[in-house]
Amino acid sequence: MASTWKDVLELAVAIELECAALYEVFAKTFADKRELAYFWRLYAEAERYHAASIRIHQSAMSTARPQGEQGYDAESTDAAAFLAEIREERARCERHGIGVADALRLARRVEEHSAELHGRTQFFKLFPEFGDLLVKMADEDKAHRDLLATAEKRWG
Ligand SMILES: [Fe+2]
Ligand SMILES: [Fe+2]
Repeated sequence: MASTWKDVLELAVAIELECAALYEVFAKTFADKRELAYFWRLYAEAERYHAASIRIHQSAMSTARPQGEQGYDAESTDAAAFLAEIREERARCERHGIGVADALRLARRVEEHSAELHGRTQFFKLFPEFGDLLVKMADEDKAHRDLLATAEKRWG
């Protein structure tokens, strides 16, 4: 069955929330390192914000017609596999714990995966009249990755 843009955004929300859950596990894992725990908590909050922004797009556009509905099967398969992978990693961290350097490496892998950004950018391909917002979001996403780079320098 072909995915629709709504399915793609639904999956994107799930990915953002799963990233948040992973980073919350990191915050708990490093609870005795207050500043590091605070960093992961902030990072998790950013992911919840990403999910909320996708939800806002969904509701704002619920009755709009996208410019050319496309098939998203390949992208969705890739994103769903990524979601399953983060879930597994989170379960593993909860069971066995994780060191600071490995947590940062895992976060880097997550943040560099196209699926993490996909939901936020896909929307603008379908609704180009919202292009200005894309610029704002791209700036936010860059700041989000820069924050991870700062943490890597400090704790990596
Ligand atoms: Fe995100
Ligand atoms: Fe992220």
